Amino acid sequence: MANEIAIAKDLFLAYDSREVILQNLSFSICEGDLVFVSGASGSGKSTLIKAFYGAVAPTKGYLRVGGVTMPANAGSAIDRLRRKLGIVFQDYRLIDEWTIERNIALPLYIAGYDQRRIKDQVEKLLKHVRLTHRRDRLPRELSGGEQQRAAVARALSHNPTLLLADEPTGNLDDYSARLVHELFMAVNQLGKTVVIVTHRMPSAINANYRHFYIEGGRLFEVN
Ligand SMILES: Nc1ncnc2c1ncn2[C@@H]1O[C@H](COP(=O)(O)OP(=O)(O)OP(=O)(O)O)[C@@H](O)[C@H]1O
Ligand SMILES: [Mg+2]
Repeated sequence: MANEIAIAKDLFLAYDSREVILQNLSFSICEGDLVFVSGASGSGKSTLIKAFYGAVAPTKGYLRVGGVTMPANAGSAIDRLRRKLGIVFQDYRLIDEWTIERNIALPLYIAGYDQRRIKDQVEKLLKHVRLTHRRDRLPRELSGGEQQRAAVARALSHNPTLLLADEPTGNLDDYSARLVHELFMAVNQLGKTVVIVTHRMPSAINANYRHFYIEGGRLFEVN
């Protein structure tokens, strides 16, 4: 059996006791999976992603991500989780005053990599997301699609086990959205596990693809 990267059993998620957002979720995401998560606005897609990175705690049931059982309360568990995850958001969240190169290197500085290794790794990532020619620019000097590719590179820089993306193409035109989706698929083809929340399913999808659909507080696996 392939390595399990995320496991949920009868999982419930809520922000407060008055309203359960997601209930009875059970699924298992294995190494190398590419999972698309869709559902109407307000259905709970971001809530699920937040649970994956520890920002929403289960109110009931079981959730284990990257070997860490939630809630990850202890500092050591949070650190372990952080090392295992790369996260991409709709609004890129790059640091405005930093060059693209420095933004991509940020998780490596935090992880305490030495200068040589940072340089090599960033070089590789810039090439992978096709931004080598933009390395010295500031985020505002890039197009939305380019900024998102930089955010993907940053999310990948510390070689995470699981890449999470919440509406990564929400702010992009169709062309840039396709490039970003292709990038996620290429990353998946290299063996990385990827979970993407999206309103628009890409048309060309590789074989590892799974589709979770959220409706009425429940999660269904379709196709
Ligand atoms: N911090 C919060 N506190 C309380 N309720 C929240 C909070 N964040 C979200 N919610 C509620 O949880 C429900 C699910 O929200 P969520 O952000 O997960 O939806 P979504 O599927 O990501 O929607 P969208 O497609 O618009 O991003 C919504 O009803 C929302 O109002
Ligand atoms: Mg959302």
